[in-house]
Amino acid sequence: MNVSPTLSSTVRRLPHVVAVSLSTLLLASCGVIEGVGDSSSSAGPKKGDDITVGLLLPDRETGRFERFDYPLIKKRVAALTNDKGTVRYANAGASAKKQSTQFEQMIAAKVDVILVDAVDAKAIAKDIQKAKDAAIPVIAYDRLAQGPIDAYVSHDNELVGQVQGRAIVGALGDKAKTSKIVMMNGSVADPNTALFKQGALSELNGNVIIAKQYDTREWLPQVAKANMEKAIKAIGLNNIAAVYSANDGMAGAVIDALKEAGATKIPPVTGQDADLAALQRIVAGEQFMTVYKSFLLEADNAAELAVAKVQDHGIEFDALTPDTIDSPTQQDVPASLVPVVAVTQDNIKETVIQDGVYTVKEICTPEYAADCAAIGLK
Ligand code: GAL
Repeated sequence: MNVSPTLSSTVRRLPHVVAVSLSTLLLASCGVIEGVGDSSSSAGPKKGDDITVGLLLPDRETGRFERFDYPLIKKRVAALTNDKGTVRYANAGASAKKQSTQFEQMIAAKVDVILVDAVDAKAIAKDIQKAKDAAIPVIAYDRLAQGPIDAYVSHDNELVGQVQGRAIVGALGDKAKTSKIVMMNGSVADPNTALFKQGALSELNGNVIIAKQYDTREWLPQVAKANMEKAIKAIGLNNIAAVYSANDGMAGAVIDALKEAGATKIPPVTGQDADLAALQRIVAGEQFMTVYKSFLLEADNAAELAVAKVQDHGIEFDALTPDTIDSPTQQDVPASLVPVVAVTQDNIKETVIQDGVYTVKEICTPEYAADCAAIGLK
């Protein structure tokens, strides 16, 4: 599958890991909306507050979707519509076929706008065309769906891969060049996978030895675990110096496979999504890092864009999409790309805790109390 979206915009390629708190950005993003407001809209509102936003999320394997994305979008839509707007939600359970049915149900229900995080970015294009024919705008959420979308809300996903790759090279230090690593990439149906991989390879190629690499069907942790078992057999447990894992769900599976093979010290393993279990593994020294992509900002931006689109608030819509991106089927899609942060033991407090994603209490359960104390997390 050819998925090579290109970023053709003002997005800065950040040379280093962005280590700022996102709360400031969150406030700034709210400011954009308040600053522009209804009165300065380019056209009179097309619809009032009584709107329905259709939301299609891809799976339940990754904790963020149901724990953060859905409730945050729901809350923001309500806040923007005097509690009159609603979200009609469906989760595809990692099935592209199921998502297609759910999409068609959204069209049949005549929702006002659809936010879709595609299981398969190419397969969903025909449904997006159907929505377009029914005059329902579609905003691609997190993954760049193909077909005639109105906007895209995500992160600089190549940067996510760069941050992960750089973390591995940094963790291996002087030994990097002669170190063998395993690469666990995500689902090929997800266009982000190619970007994560591309970003990571830009840091890893020439700096480490990539001994084995795998794609992971539907991002399933059990598939990653089976692949890790194969890698251990082929390379030898003690010869694996680090594992690039594209997300946290797979990182957990990789670490389980390493432990089951008898590893006493886990080599550096990367991740993404700031899952609670991953943060606990980081505290315990089992996972080296995760990439925290503020779902708070991403979800808020998506809700704001959806409402602005339906209510025909062109100025707000443009202010929320300062970037543009090309998909394999469409050029210059208006885009909103939220920054990313690498999280290690050193900055858990200044990132996910400060942003209110998790409390210290949630991370430092009795099982992790000693580890938390050892790194001064209280
Ligand atoms: C990606 C997404 C990640 C992660 C992954 C697994 O597209 O950007 O945050 O959730 O899918 O579902």
